[in-house]
Amino acid sequence: MRPSLAPLLLLLLAVCFPAVCALSHVEELKSQERLFLSSLGLSGRPRPAGGLQPRRHVPSALWKMFRRSENTQAQESDPCTVSEYGVRGNIIRYVQDQGRLVSGWSSCQLCVEKQLFFNMSVLQPVELLSLAQLEIKFHWKAFSPAELLQGPRALSVSLYKVIRATLRGANPQANRRLLLSQSVQLQPHPASITLDLTPLAESWRKAGRNYGLLLELLPLSAHPDQLLSFHPGNSLPLDAAFNLPLVQASLVAVSLNPHQCRSRQRRSAVHLPVTPSNVCKARRLFIDFKDVGWQDWIIAPQGYMANYCNGECPFPLSESLNGTNHAILQTLVHSLDPHGTPQPCCVPIRLSPISMLYYDNNDNVVLRHYQDMVVDECGCR
Ligand SMILES: *[C@@H]1O[C@H](CO)[C@@H](O)[C@H](O)[C@H]1NC(C)=O
Ligand SMILES: *[C@@H]1O[C@H](CO)[C@@H](O)[C@H](O)[C@H]1NC(C)=O
Repeated sequence: MRPSLAPLLLLLLAVCFPAVCALSHVEELKSQERLFLSSLGLSGRPRPAGGLQPRRHVPSALWKMFRRSENTQAQESDPCTVSEYGVRGNIIRYVQDQGRLVSGWSSCQLCVEKQLFFNMSVLQPVELLSLAQLEIKFHWKAFSPAELLQGPRALSVSLYKVIRATLRGANPQANRRLLLSQSVQLQPHPASITLDLTPLAESWRKAGRNYGLLLELLPLSAHPDQLLSFHPGNSLPLDAAFNLPLVQASLVAVSLNPHQCRSRQRRSAVHLPVTPSNVCKARRLFIDFKDVGWQDWIIAPQGYMANYCNGECPFPLSESLNGTNHAILQTLVHSLDPHGTPQPCCVPIRLSPISMLYYDNNDNVVLRHYQDMVVDECGCR
């Protein structure tokens, strides 16, 4: 990827002692890794939290989009439009909620409050945010079979944006604005609410401007007397009479990196000829992410057909070798003086992207089209 580093490495190998060389080789590998990661927008190599905790589940909608982008027909479509959402974009993130359950300063007596916080600094400044959609899922399980028979369970849900930090003693209601208020029926299968928060999420990208959201849940019951089991003043009604749902919130952020919008069209690299020949052409190479030790943060693919260019650029340079005028003259000079002037180099002249599904440094799941990953055509340059 960075041919300029290779001669440097060779030079180092040639002049230094073996121990020093091993060290500088490790340094080289690390710097190559950093380059690759930074072009994915990652500050460092994502590591699983603790190793014991299970990694965040990959939402089925993202898997679907990933599978679709692998499909060759989809590759001819516009690489910078996300048709699932009907917006421009080439990066899709499931930004994880980092808010906590709050209690103590709760302003309502019978309800539960949950803070929602989405770190929008994970977007690089160059990215244009086209969509931020909040998804709140309520996973509810009846405490006992009897509870299911007691009729429908419902929650009154209010969502607020927090406009500034609340100081101790201040009225928390003054610092928030209502965004949504509705009731949600709790059923054995998860209920969900979605809400477009694009302008708000855009404002969260500015440093120090993100105070998050506040979710207020008030259990509603068909039988008003059941509400009595929630003790006034206790903001966590964990009474057995009503099993609270597990609340999961995520923000689907679709953004566009305008520098990565080249077409995804590719000549089928799968049909590379296997006939032995030492003339410059693309050769098959499968890269397994396990071999480079990245299997713990790249979710999919586990590897891919990357290919490489290899072979001679002999005189006379045939048209199929895609030589530049300069390369044609260089082969001519090489044929006259083989020791003074080398042959032109066999290099990639057409590359295509792949789609990658991975965890970022905040454990968010990200799907993006990553450019220049596959060699489609080689030429003499
Ligand atoms: C948000 O993410 C950025 C980049 O990953 C990180 O530097 C920052 O500490 C995070 N902020 C919070 C409040 O978690
Ligand atoms: C390069 O050569 C191949 C044949 O080997 C040809 O199909 C292709 O069109 C050429 N590409 C360019 C950019 O000229």
